[in-house]
Amino acid sequence: MQQTPKPTPITTERPAAEQFTWWQKGVIYEIYVRSFKDSNGDGIGDLSGIAEKLDYLRWMGVDAIWLTPFYPSPMKDFGYDISDYTAVDAMFGTIDDFDALVRETHQRNMKIILDVVPNHTSDQHPWFLESKSSRDNPKRDWYLWHDPSPDGGPPNNWLSVLGGTGWEWVEERGQYYHHAFLIEQPDLNLRNPEVMDAILEVFRFWLDRGVDGFRVDVMWHMIKDAQWRDNPPNPDFKTGMPTYDQFSPVYSTDQPKTHEVVARFRQLLDEYGDKVLIGEMYLPVEKVVRYYGAGNQGAHLPGNFQLLLIDWNARKIALEIDKYEGLLPENAWPNWVFSNHDRPRVATRYGKEQARVAAVLLLTLRGTPTIYYGDELGLQNVPIPEDEVKDPQGLLMPGLGLSRDPQRTPMQWNDAENAGFTTGEPWLRLSEKYAEENVEKQQQDPASILSLYHQLLELRRKEPALHIGAYTPVPAHGPVLAYIRSSGETRLMIVLNFSNETIEFTPERMEPKGTILLQTRNERKGEWINGNIQLQSNEGVVIKLD
Ligand code: GLC
Repeated sequence: MQQTPKPTPITTERPAAEQFTWWQKGVIYEIYVRSFKDSNGDGIGDLSGIAEKLDYLRWMGVDAIWLTPFYPSPMKDFGYDISDYTAVDAMFGTIDDFDALVRETHQRNMKIILDVVPNHTSDQHPWFLESKSSRDNPKRDWYLWHDPSPDGGPPNNWLSVLGGTGWEWVEERGQYYHHAFLIEQPDLNLRNPEVMDAILEVFRFWLDRGVDGFRVDVMWHMIKDAQWRDNPPNPDFKTGMPTYDQFSPVYSTDQPKTHEVVARFRQLLDEYGDKVLIGEMYLPVEKVVRYYGAGNQGAHLPGNFQLLLIDWNARKIALEIDKYEGLLPENAWPNWVFSNHDRPRVATRYGKEQARVAAVLLLTLRGTPTIYYGDELGLQNVPIPEDEVKDPQGLLMPGLGLSRDPQRTPMQWNDAENAGFTTGEPWLRLSEKYAEENVEKQQQDPASILSLYHQLLELRRKEPALHIGAYTPVPAHGPVLAYIRSSGETRLMIVLNFSNETIEFTPERMEPKGTILLQTRNERKGEWINGNIQLQSNEGVVIKLD
């Protein structure tokens, strides 16, 4: 008689601390390379500029830096239109500068993560120039070519995320190609094994130079429907929304085969040891978690962007955190992103005071946080006059407030001219508030938001409860968000006030007793808590429970 296989035992044991790796315990910092630090006076940030500021990043306490694209590019989408995947654009430096940056980063015990863009190239990439030249060249199937529809128009209704149709006509081939973003960003055909190999070579090139991982641009876009079907209309579309939202991109994104591509990337990374694979992911959380892949063999960190997108409301956020925690596959590691180069800054979305509460939340949740450069100074979006708009999304969809320039303005280092970012003319205007809001000034002020980030990062590194511990929600009402992070004997309770009113919080079924370890304005450290927790407006505390 055949024996039924024994089911895998269900275990509640937690892995020991040493089983967690750098990208689980650490904190990532996103650097928008153009805007971080200019070392040669051309007004554009560069790799040597980043190297100059590594000591600052080490001091602040981040563990890894993610660099936005610095590869040769016509810069139509500021580097996300790559014309050579394995070189450095002269405006950002040289490959020697890159090697030096890797060395210097590693010397400071930090990691370096690159942005890789496998979904599309620049239309000036030699692969595309060859592919568009005829219907019978060796790279003819490297991009998404299609005959016109019977009326001679585009093959289907797929749109460009950055505005307008997603198809462009090429006379030489008598065909259209698909571009999910700009016309100048043709989409690659990742179903073609030759293309896949070429992209894997790109990963290898940078891994061989010592990088520690990749953030894969628009991961959920990489494969499209093989039948090229029309996307259905989005019933929730309203005027004022980006034109792309007219249709639900169910055929042009998030196809099952995408997971095979991700798994292949992962397999390659695994050959190099302890590397990280991060995915950019604007999808509902139910779909995001699928990108961990079968048996967690997909992305290590499929980007969790929920808190980039929802209202700043304690109840809604509490629900989202629990929903995400509940959906995570076993042994999948969570991650949190509150802002990036594509979305308005935290301090603009929630206000300057709540930006501190957001910092405590981001850095005390379970999972790897990503900090966007400048958020540690409480920077807000900088208004850019209409005639200075540079971002293609702003230029292609004017009047909708969609330009991404305001969240990409130069970093503010000190109160010297141009905030110490450049000795030249900055490529994008700076905030007028830089004399007040800059690194040098805030480093000296124990009540600054930068000091708060510094303390949070220090505490997070010191306390296993924060960097690897369990997450338990604490029931609360109204504007209070509360939870406990625990590891071994240590239990840290985090209580956040999302309102600008004083509140008193008495948790149900527990009488918290303990000492405040950290507070949003660096005021109540050491204070003893006994049962009730009084919170000032916009205040957050981390309490070590007895
Ligand atoms: C990603 C990038 C964004 C870029 C787009 C196209 O969303 O973050 O900046 O415009 O991909 O590459």
